Amino acid sequence: MCGIIGIASNKSVTSNIIQSLKKLEYRGYDSAGIATILNGNIDEKKCTGRVDNLEKILFKNPSSGSLGIGHVRWATHGVPNQVNAHPHSSEEVSVVHNGIIENSNVLKKNLEKKGYKFKSQTDTEVITFLLTDFLKEYDLVEAINKTLKTLNGSFALGILFKKYNNVVAGARRGSPLAVGYGPNENYLGSDSYALKSMTNKITYLDDGEICILTNNKIDFYNSENKKINKKILILSNDKNLAEKGDYKDFMSKEINEQNTTIKTCVKEYVDQLRKDINLYNFPINPLDIKKIVLIGCGTAYHSCVAAKYWFEEITNIPIEIDVASEFRYRKVNLHKENLYIFVSQSGETADTFAALDLCKKNKVKTCSIVNVVESSIARNSDFVLPIHAGPEIGVASTKAFMGQMLVLYILAIKISEIRKEISRVDYEKKINDLIKLPDLIKKTLNYCGNHIQIIAKDFLQTNGAIFLGRGLSFPIALEGALKLKELSYLHAEGYPAGEMKHGPLALIEEGLPVVILAPKDRYFEKTISNMQEVIARGGKVILITNEINKVISENVRFTLEMPETGEHLAVFLMTIPLQLLAYHVASLKNCDIDKPRNLAKSVTVE
Ligand code: AGP
Repeated sequence: MCGIIGIASNKSVTSNIIQSLKKLEYRGYDSAGIATILNGNIDEKKCTGRVDNLEKILFKNPSSGSLGIGHVRWATHGVPNQVNAHPHSSEEVSVVHNGIIENSNVLKKNLEKKGYKFKSQTDTEVITFLLTDFLKEYDLVEAINKTLKTLNGSFALGILFKKYNNVVAGARRGSPLAVGYGPNENYLGSDSYALKSMTNKITYLDDGEICILTNNKIDFYNSENKKINKKILILSNDKNLAEKGDYKDFMSKEINEQNTTIKTCVKEYVDQLRKDINLYNFPINPLDIKKIVLIGCGTAYHSCVAAKYWFEEITNIPIEIDVASEFRYRKVNLHKENLYIFVSQSGETADTFAALDLCKKNKVKTCSIVNVVESSIARNSDFVLPIHAGPEIGVASTKAFMGQMLVLYILAIKISEIRKEISRVDYEKKINDLIKLPDLIKKTLNYCGNHIQIIAKDFLQTNGAIFLGRGLSFPIALEGALKLKELSYLHAEGYPAGEMKHGPLALIEEGLPVVILAPKDRYFEKTISNMQEVIARGGKVILITNEINKVISENVRFTLEMPETGEHLAVFLMTIPLQLLAYHVASLKNCDIDKPRNLAKSVTVE
């Protein structure tokens, strides 16, 4: 949440800061701002809304300067208005911040007593005044460290100084911060994606570290003010993957490329010749695992719910699933024989990271399933299984969900094979099904493209919708409801179809859209009975199935016929119409597809 950029150069930095902020907008988009050092003073410009508005302000009233910081905000403390937008500046310093300062109220009172006058309602302004205060007594690095030690909570910071007018400083605790090396300029960014158009040479700050950038040098310090050395990483050059191309928005691109991303991921893990799965030096012996605990947030959590069904079906290992924000604060008994798996697209989600950190501190086995392999979660877990989906920019997660499910499924089959809980014939059959999956996804995308737009129109006359499924279709129902909520702002519930009669059936009224997921599986007949209960009460049913012949489609408003596939893989195909449904309903309602209201892509605050 919130995007930060900082550049120390020997030429004007405004245009590069604006371009980087546009890339970072997926992290927050309720206000934006920039500060540069102009004629020895801090020059700050801010606006509400998108970076485009900031660009217009700069067009009328240009900023220049060879040092600058920029910010896009996802509001935590204080409404999204111009005053609360970052940077927050005094005469001496200017600060951009991602994170939350938990003791800001106490610090504010103390600073007010010293005569500092606060303009905003943010927690960030205390950092500005603390730095201003400490700089009266201490040198640059000491003043930053003194400030950081006063703060409780999480932060990534970009800072400009009037006195040290050739440096941009960065610091972090809890929230990520990347440092980039360029020709005659150096960079700070809240993720490496924002820096990729300028450099592929990156260092990640660790908690408690500080960086001091000039245009030709970067120095790193620890919390004891001692200089330290950091490794430089060379990032892969996948710039094009992060462009929209001919698509209207990132989400439609990301939905439509799922056959390719799944193909890439299958290729990475499946040895198609030997009909085997390669987990590349997976350091944990599956025979020693007593229990697996799967942890994630939002869509990533839904992939964990799906994985629970697979693991329980294919292995004999007990499985637990948990939402990271609950796991991190509950009294959980962590055991050395258990494997804790963390699922996250961004690899930066604060709750998931905190849950991982708890496990690391208790020295239990950890593994992460991430898309961003340079992320904090990837770097801090014992082993990483990447999903190989390429950059996902749309705030609503689509191709990453498919990738997370795929890697979890692959892991379940391989663990089962090593533990000899699956026959060789069944193992090979599952691998063959996996190899066919990308083509089936392509077929489903083509088929759905023609139908969903029509179905979406029904959702314009309703205040809500329900998604129902049993077994593996239940997590897909949860995911379908989440996608519709976050994109079209319609109330939506995902439920196990068998639970309806225990309460939610009361919601069914004439015309309420109810999406029924009924693939050919052991629950099929039961799900169809639940569907009839919905129809009998006036629900407008959209049935998604691959068992057409057995369905009496009378009174079903729409039936979507999915291609046939192995029982375990039907969920991949069923997910596609739900993603497209949310997309088209949101488009018809003119919602901002890639940047839904109140949300951000990378949730780096609690
Ligand atoms: C999904 O569409 C969401 N925007 C959200 O639920 C997301 O999946 C969640 O915040 C977790 O993010 P992560 O995968 O990057 O950890």
